[in-house]
Amino acid sequence: MIPLTHSRKRHRPGFSTVVLAALVALATAAARPAPPPRTNAGSIQPADAPAQRFFPKADLMTIGVYYYPEQWPESQWERDLGRMAEMGFEFTHFGEFAWAFLEPSDGTFDFAWLDRAVALAAKAGLKVILCTPTPCPPAWLGEKHPEIYLVGGDGRRMEHGTRANGSLADDVFVRYSKRIVAELGRRYGQDPRVWGWQLDNEPSGPADYSPAARLKFQAWLERRYGTVAKLNEAWGGAFWSTRYDSFAQVLIPNEGLFGEDALSPHALLDFHRFTADTQADYLHMQYDVLRRLARPEQWITTNYTNVTENADPRRTDRLDFIAFTMYPVRGETNLGELGFRLGNPYRLAMAVDYFRSFKGVTGVMELQPGQVNWARINPQPEPGAVRMWLWHAFAGGLSFACTYRFRQPLYGSELYHAGIVGPDGVTPSRGGLEFAQVIREMKEMRRLYDPAATMPAALAARRTAFLWSHDVLWDLETHKQTALWRTWDHRFKIMAAIKAAGAPLDYVGEADDFSAYPFLVAPAYQLVDEALVAKWRRYVEGGGHLVLTCRTGQKTKTGQLPEMPWAGMIAPLAGADVELFDGLLEGGQGIVRMGGGAYAWRAWADVLRPREGTETLAAYADQFYAGKAAVTTRRLGRGTVTYIGAESVDGSLERDVLRLVYQRAGAKPASYPPGVYVEWRDGFFIAVNYSSSPFDLPLGPGTRIVLGANPLRPADALIWLPK
Ligand code: GAL
Repeated sequence: MIPLTHSRKRHRPGFSTVVLAALVALATAAARPAPPPRTNAGSIQPADAPAQRFFPKADLMTIGVYYYPEQWPESQWERDLGRMAEMGFEFTHFGEFAWAFLEPSDGTFDFAWLDRAVALAAKAGLKVILCTPTPCPPAWLGEKHPEIYLVGGDGRRMEHGTRANGSLADDVFVRYSKRIVAELGRRYGQDPRVWGWQLDNEPSGPADYSPAARLKFQAWLERRYGTVAKLNEAWGGAFWSTRYDSFAQVLIPNEGLFGEDALSPHALLDFHRFTADTQADYLHMQYDVLRRLARPEQWITTNYTNVTENADPRRTDRLDFIAFTMYPVRGETNLGELGFRLGNPYRLAMAVDYFRSFKGVTGVMELQPGQVNWARINPQPEPGAVRMWLWHAFAGGLSFACTYRFRQPLYGSELYHAGIVGPDGVTPSRGGLEFAQVIREMKEMRRLYDPAATMPAALAARRTAFLWSHDVLWDLETHKQTALWRTWDHRFKIMAAIKAAGAPLDYVGEADDFSAYPFLVAPAYQLVDEALVAKWRRYVEGGGHLVLTCRTGQKTKTGQLPEMPWAGMIAPLAGADVELFDGLLEGGQGIVRMGGGAYAWRAWADVLRPREGTETLAAYADQFYAGKAAVTTRRLGRGTVTYIGAESVDGSLERDVLRLVYQRAGAKPASYPPGVYVEWRDGFFIAVNYSSSPFDLPLGPGTRIVLGANPLRPADALIWLPK
């Protein structure tokens, strides 16, 4: 359901598997007591965020690499770990796929090999990240309990022979997971050689259609709604007689089964929420077990993929911080002729801010070391690109960067995947050399680190918060209205517009305090309630500048329309009504005019009717509504509300409107071309260039360049200190 182009890779049972299959008949759900309300950790963190205690600021960004002792002869471990240290790596990462080695048979644990590997890492001077091995249930577990495997939308049960195949809704799987996590915690929780923990691997919130998941879903609904009447109301049960008489009748809505005569979007939205909650509960279960056993100095995180579709990082707010994985080159056409080798210009830019925002601290657990194996086509990255990504990660404030993996595998489905060293186990790959170079350069940056440096005032004046919620993502994606709507692309365009202005960006949730930010964007924020709209109003009246984009405020939190004119909940705040909305065909193009500029749009247009006192910034130039407003702005209290009704094809309308908003607010935006990112961190300015042309950065006189050269070439980084 979420565009595959953005999915991390490989098949996982999805929400939209299009094969007919009868679901197994099931028993009644037992009602359970409601869980405690989720707390929202919030994104606005003081400089001394609690999670910062794990990472001395003066280390800036620590760099490490994955190693799989279980995949290599033990006689090579010492050589490999020694070589890693010689290349400058400061930590290694073990164990996320090693369950069959850690628990070779039910209840028999073998840590002796891991003890030896940890000892050799320590001998080489490397810290160790240990992982819980739950993505890979051993064969004996599936043999004994076939019900531990998750079931896809086509009704097929997964089986042994791959990974990420356990049903997180299955109590047996959860029990076995808990036991191995506890055993690991008991063995290594007090071990000073163990730096921190990764839970599972790339938790993806897989849609699970198993009997266990159905029972859990029914119980989840009963907790949420209390009565079937309320459920029927929330899901629109009067439509097509889809109403239920009891929670026990509820099926998992299987979107793929019905095509045009689609399922209730409200049911799908709740199934998404349930699935993400189930993933979060599983991670929290592991966290709670480990946190009790681990020394306070050991941190506990997980490594979400950079665009999480079905899992929701915000739901795992107990973790000490949240890390992510990143593979920018994935056989896609990107900016310019070199784009396919430089990588997607948005993913890393977005991930650093998004994942850092949760706890003020983050790290990239896997950063592509070179060519990968899993995309449709797998080109070589441009020479220099790996190094540029590392400096980009640094620019985003990351505390560590790690890469998958030290050695290129000699067997298994990833044997075409580059490592830091090649198949001979000793010769560094090009990416390996680039990692080693950044590690050397990082040492120089540490020498220059000034703990007293604070964010320059000109930057702080443009601090922007980005409101994002997975509930909104799910509703937009399950009920697109046009196949051309791509929520992630919309998000990337707005992010790129903020970055083009050189504005520091944090992501926030609805429960956060927006008031620390002079600017707040809420792109396509479709699901609202009165409390959120009132909070936005208070923010604006208090002096904030709020930017909303198309589709915002059109539905309630159950994904229904309120009984009022279209977008009626948001119109009084925006100072504009949405007269109608439109979408063009593939290859079609409408034009919006603003000032002297013309901007093409295709996927979505809200046609606006400004109310009194609201200014039209841009208007539609064609279609039957030519001349009507496309972008409006108004003053309210001490702030402003701007509504961008059209989604432009290349994001240029959003970029230029945001620029105007910054300018009018006196925040003096910068002007960087697409793919050039300039960030400030710990006293350093860092620029990277994903475009295919050099860019001459406007560095003021007296600027001290400490790395690289201006003009900044593609695939390069430039670091300077302000005068
Ligand atoms: C990641 C995954 C790793 C490895 C890697 C290959 O998504 O977490 O285990 O498969 O991709 O690029």
